Amino acid sequence: MEGSPSPRSVALVVPHGPPSPSPRPLRLGVLASGQGSNFEALVQASRHGALHAEVVGLVVNTPHCKALARAERLNVGATVMDHRRYTSREALDHALVDHFRALQVDVLIMAGWMRIVSPVLCQAYDQRLVNIHPSLLPAFRGLNAMERALAAGVCITGCTAHLVVPEVDAGPILIQAAVPTYPDDTVATLAPRIHAQEHRILPVAVAMAGRHLFERP
Ligand code: GRF
Repeated sequence: MEGSPSPRSVALVVPHGPPSPSPRPLRLGVLASGQGSNFEALVQASRHGALHAEVVGLVVNTPHCKALARAERLNVGATVMDHRRYTSREALDHALVDHFRALQVDVLIMAGWMRIVSPVLCQAYDQRLVNIHPSLLPAFRGLNAMERALAAGVCITGCTAHLVVPEVDAGPILIQAAVPTYPDDTVATLAPRIHAQEHRILPVAVAMAGRHLFERP
C-alpha cells in the first residue's frame, strides 16, 4: 500500500515517547570506540530539539576511530583516552570521572564503548550512566549480540537502552525497540535495521535518565 512503511523498517518501541523535558538542558558526555553513529544521533537530537540537551564532550579509547572524525565535523570537543595507557580498568575510569566532572556532565552515555566499566564509573554516575546494546536484553548480553541472535534463529530482536551497573548489560532497562529478522538476514542486513532504532531510542533513554536526576529528593 502506498505510503505504508516497508515491513523491513517496522519497529515496536516501548515506552513510545520521551518524558517531559528537563528543567534545563542536560549536559551530556559520550563514550565511543568505533563508528560513533549513536554519538552523532545524540548531537543531532540535541541540536534539533528532540532532546533538551547539549553534548559537551566525547571520549574515545581508540585513536583514529570514526567517532573522532564525527566529533570534529560536528564541532564537539573530543579526547582520546587509550585504555592501553592505563594500568587498570579502575585507573581509566578514574580519569574518565575526572574528565566528565570537569565538564559538569549530567548524563554519561556509553554509545558503543567497547570497554567493561568498573564500579568507579558506575558509582560516580549512578543512575546517570546509560548504555545502548544491540539486542533485546536480557537476551544476548555481551559481544556479538546480533550474530548470536541470528544464530539462535530468533524472529524478533532489537536494541535496549539501559542504566549501567557493574555486571555487563544487566542494569535496569529504560527503553527497547523490537525489529523483525528475516530468513535471509546477515549481520550486514540486520545491523542497519537495529542501528536506526538505536538512534531513535537512545535520546529518549537519555531524557529518562535526566528526568530521574531532577526528581531526586
Ligand atoms: C551499537 O550497535 C551499540 O548497540 C553497540 O555498539 C554499536 C555502536 O555503534 N554497543 P556506533 O559506534 O554508535 O555506530
